[in-house]
Parts: sequence; structure tokens; C-alpha cells
Amino acid sequence: MNNKSVGILGIGKYVPEKKVTNDDLVSMGLDTSDEWIFERTGIRSRYIVSENETTSDLAYKAALKAVKDASLTVDDIDMIIVATTTPDYRLFPSTAAVVQNLLKINRPIPAFDVAAACSGFSYTLSIAENYIKSGHYKNVLVLGADVLSKNIDWTDRTTCVLFGDGAGAVILGEVEPEYGILYTKLYADGSCAEILKADGGTKSPLTEGFVRDKSHFIKMNGRLVFKEAVKVIDMSIKDLLDDCCLNLSDISYYVAHQANMRILDYVRQKQAFKTNQVLSNIDKYGNTSAASIPLVLDDFNHQFKKGDYIILNAFGAGFTWGVNLIRWSK
Ligand code: COA
Repeated sequence: MNNKSVGILGIGKYVPEKKVTNDDLVSMGLDTSDEWIFERTGIRSRYIVSENETTSDLAYKAALKAVKDASLTVDDIDMIIVATTTPDYRLFPSTAAVVQNLLKINRPIPAFDVAAACSGFSYTLSIAENYIKSGHYKNVLVLGADVLSKNIDWTDRTTCVLFGDGAGAVILGEVEPEYGILYTKLYADGSCAEILKADGGTKSPLTEGFVRDKSHFIKMNGRLVFKEAVKVIDMSIKDLLDDCCLNLSDISYYVAHQANMRILDYVRQKQAFKTNQVLSNIDKYGNTSAASIPLVLDDFNHQFKKGDYIILNAFGAGFTWGVNLIRWSK
């Protein structure tokens, strides 16, 4: 392992064309209101795939933008990793392999998926970073892509109002020394598995009755998830600041997984972040799972300056969570 600095060379995102507002959900007959959803979550709208659109379609379009932003071509990519828990195929092939084909990369480069739910982007970034540091790979396409809309019960108001579809992509590669990813810590606590889950795997195979009962859709204990999320966020920010000998005032921006505005407000108050340090776009997209952090990075890319210290903080089902510190190098 050498001491290369690895960072983001290019970034891109894609969300489906169809926008669904809170009022649209009410019009569809859901017993909810724009006021309830916005007050409890900060969400105003989300983007939803069409019937034939897949996770790889979103990932492919985000990838093309990231490649262009990095001033590279698809021929420069030598590995593809997709963070997703909503793959195109239930078992296989991986969504990453499908993306490789869509990008018309005919060379046999490695392509694989990482399943860490909403923490997927933090996990995947770290995997890619280490492959580049090993010296065996140069430009890795890292994607966070999820289509949760096909995995929720649209009559269950406790879950369906929260989620949206999207894909974010970065090209990771070598950057100048002391820039890029400076720190990563990843965590999991499998004892929390039942508080946020989607059945239909080997524990409860998909039978006709199981699907009829909608048992394969996302199930969540919202209150417990909220409590767990704020606990692990506190832990990971403390670890990062202690381990890196930094203060909150050294941090330019805090980019957390966009699950709920109330979680972000809690973190801002508890940590005493300034309002403009905490970035959010949950109002537009809802919770897009593994895509949410790169969607924020892409939306706020224009305001980042070289040298900015940016915390990425993901959390999600498992429970899994992760924190990365990036020194912006673009
Ligand atoms: N519209 C209107 N009412 C709703 C509703 C909706 N979309 N969803 C739930 N309600 C109702 C409930 O039925 C309940 O009614 P009752 O008191 O008559 O039983 C009431 O609102 C309160 O429900 P509760 O679940 O206690 O609300 P809450 O304040 O905990 O908010 C969440 C619900 C989901 C917004 C909140 O728990 C949350 O954000 N949790 C974290 C979720 C998350 O981040 N998940 C992803 C992690 S990666």
C-alpha cells in the first residue's frame, strides 16, 4: 500500500423525470398532507422511475456525467462499484456489471455491488480508495444508486412518503498530496436488523402469499430508526474530530445521508454546526438511500472551494453507518 492521496476527480447525478409532490400523494388517495410530511421530514417532493426504468439506467446516466466532469472517457475507468440495495436483478448479475455493459466498456474490468443500505456510498468510497492506493487501479467509478419506489407499499403512509429514486456518481482517482479522502471509519450493529428491513430473502422466501400480503416491502420502526440514527451520528462525528484532531470550526461543510430534516436539525443543534455548514436537498428528492450523499455533493459542487474540509456521514439499515473526511481537491 503506498501513500497516494485519493479524491474525487468528477461528479454527476441523475434523477428520474417524474416528480411526485406531497400534494400529488394526497391526490392519489393517500391519507396524509403536505403539512404533515414537510413538518416531520422536510420533504416536499421526490422523483420516481417509470415502469421500465431501472437502477442501472439511473446509474448509467449519472456515470456519464461524472466521467465528463472528470475530463475522462469511459475507456479510462478500470473498476466499477455500485452501492445499492435495489439492484436490477434480485440475485444476479450485479448492477455494476449491467452498468459496465451500458457504458460499452468491453474490457473485463472488475464490477461489483456493495449492499450497505443508505450507508453504501461511504462504504464504497472507502473500498475504491483502497483499491487505488494499492496501485492496481487508477480511476474507479463509484456509484450510489437506488430505486426504492419499486420496493415500497404506496398505500403505507408511514414509509412511502419518505423515499425517492436517484443515482450519484463520482470518479475516484489520485489527487495532489494532502487532498482527497483523509479519513474513513465504517461501522455496523447487526442487532438492529429488524427496525428497518425488506423481507423476501432466504429468511422469508418470496411466495405467492407473501407477495400478496405485501410482506416484501420496506418495513420500518420510524421512532427507533430516528433514535439509532442520532446516536450513531454523534458517535461518528466525535470519532472523526478526535481521530483527526479537528474542531467543528475547521469543517467547511457537513453532508449527511438525507433521511429526515429533523435528524439534520438535531445534529446541527447538538454539534453546534452553523446553519450554512449543514447541506441538505431532502426537500427536493426525499430519502434516496445510497444516492443521497452524492446527490448533495453534486448539487452543492459549485460552492465548494479547493481545500474545503467536508464531512460525509451515512447511516442506514443494518444498522450500518460511516463517516469520511474529504479535503476538496477540484
Ligand atoms: N401522514 C399523516 N400521518 C401520518 C403519516 C403520514 N405520512 N405517517 C404516520 N402518520 C401518523 C401515524 O399514524 C400516527 O398517528 P396516530 O398517533 O393516530 O397513531 C402519527 O402520525 C405519529 O406517527 P409516528 O410514527 O409516531 O410519527 P413520528 O413523529 O415518529 O414521525 C417518521 C414518523 C417516520 C417521520 C419519523 O419516525 C422518522 O423520521 N423516523 C426516521 C426515519 C428514517 O430516517 N428512515 C430512514 C433511515 S435510513
